[in-house]
Amino acid sequence: VSKEFQAMHDAHELLGKFYHHLLVNTKEGQHALEYLLERGFTRESIDKFQIGYSLNSWDFVYKFLSKRDFSPEWMEHAGLIIKRERDGTYFDRFRDRIMFPIHDRNGKTIAFSGRSLGLDEPKYLNSPETAIFNKSKILYNYHLAKPSIKKMQHAVLFEGFADCIAADRSGVENGIATMGTSLTDDHIALLRQSVQSVTICYDSDKAGIEAAFRAGNHLNNAGFQIKVAMMADGLDPDDYIKKNGPEKFRNGVIGASLTWMAFKFLYFRRGKNLQIEGDRLAYIEVIIKEISKLDKAVERDHYLRQLAAEFSLSLDALKQQLAAELSLSQDALKQQQKQIFFAEKRRTTG
Ligand code: GTP
Ligand code: MN
Ligand code: MN
Ligand code: MN
Ligand code: MN
Repeated sequence: VSKEFQAMHDAHELLGKFYHHLLVNTKEGQHALEYLLERGFTRESIDKFQIGYSLNSWDFVYKFLSKRDFSPEWMEHAGLIIKRERDGTYFDRFRDRIMFPIHDRNGKTIAFSGRSLGLDEPKYLNSPETAIFNKSKILYNYHLAKPSIKKMQHAVLFEGFADCIAADRSGVENGIATMGTSLTDDHIALLRQSVQSVTICYDSDKAGIEAAFRAGNHLNNAGFQIKVAMMADGLDPDDYIKKNGPEKFRNGVIGASLTWMAFKFLYFRRGKNLQIEGDRLAYIEVIIKEISKLDKAVERDHYLRQLAAEFSLSLDALKQQLAAELSLSQDALKQQQKQIFFAEKRRTTG
C-alpha cells in the first residue's frame, strides 16, 4: 500500500470518529442529533453505523487534517477537501450535513455520504470516485451484514442507507444498499461470494418499482433466487418502519415478499385496466412471454393454469400460444447461433 493510500484511509478513519463525536457530544451537533432521533434513528444505531455530523464551516476539515500533518494535496485526492481554482486554497466538501461513513468489505472507512438537514440540494452528497472508493463496487453495510448473510444464506437489498439502518434496528441484519446507482456486475460479483438468494426491498414508489424490476432481471440472469418485498402507499422501508413498527416490517413486508414471477405479474399490470379488452390481451401476451422464459415445465404449467383461471381462458389456447412463443424463442436462438457461426467463420477465414 502506498503512503498516499494509507494517509487517505487514516484521514477517513480519524474524521469519521470526529464527525461522530461532533454529532453525539457537542452543542454544534445537537440539531443534527435531534433531526435523526425525530426521524426514528436510535442512539444504538447511530453508534453502530458511526453516523456523524460535519460542521457548518468552510475550513474545519482542512485545519483538522493539516494540524495532523496530512498533505492537503492527498486529502483533495481523497475527496475530503476541494481546491479553489482562483487561489489554490482549499475548502471542505461536507458542511452542515449528517455524515454516513462508507466502509469497504473489510470495514475500512473509504468515503462519506452526507445528507442535508433541510431541503438543501443535493439531498445526499457523496465522496467523489477516488483511488480508494468506487461506488459501483460498494454495497453499503456489507461488512456488518456479511456474517448474517452467510448464516441465513440470504440478503436483503435496499435502495437507501436510511432503509438499511431502519431495517437493522428492526432485526433485519442481513441488509445492504447500493449508493444511488443501479445494481452493477461488480455488486453482483461481490454478493455471489456469500449468497445466492436475495430479497429486493426498494421504495414502493414508481421509481423504486422500476429499479426493482431492473435489479431483479439483472440478479435473475445472474442465477440468483429472487423475492421482492413491497410496501403499501408508495412508502420506503424507513418510512414504513417508522409508521408501522418493526414487527409489521419483518412479518408483513419481508416475510410476505413476492416470488419473482408474482412480482412480474404485478409489475406488468400497473397502468393497465384489465376490464378493457385491449389491455387484458396485451397483459396476457406479455405474461405468456414471461412464462416461456421459465426453465421448468412444471413451473410453466403452474403459471399457465393460474392465468387460465384468472381470465377464464381455456388452458389449451394458452398452451398453444406458449408453444408458439417457445418455438419463436427457439428460432431466435438458432438464428443467433447461426450468426455467431458465420461471424466466427468470417473471422477465421479473414
Ligand atoms: P431519506 O430522504 O434520507 O430517507 O433518503 P432515501 O434513502 O429515502 O432517499 P431516496 O429514496 O430519495 O434515494 C435512495 C438513495 O439514492 C439514497 O440513499 C442515496 O444513496 C441516493 N440519493 C438520493 N438522493 C441523492 C442525491 O441527491 N445525490 C446523490 N448522489 N444520491 C442520492
Ligand atoms: Mn494533484
Ligand atoms: Mn427512492
Ligand atoms: Mn427512499
Ligand atoms: Mn427515506
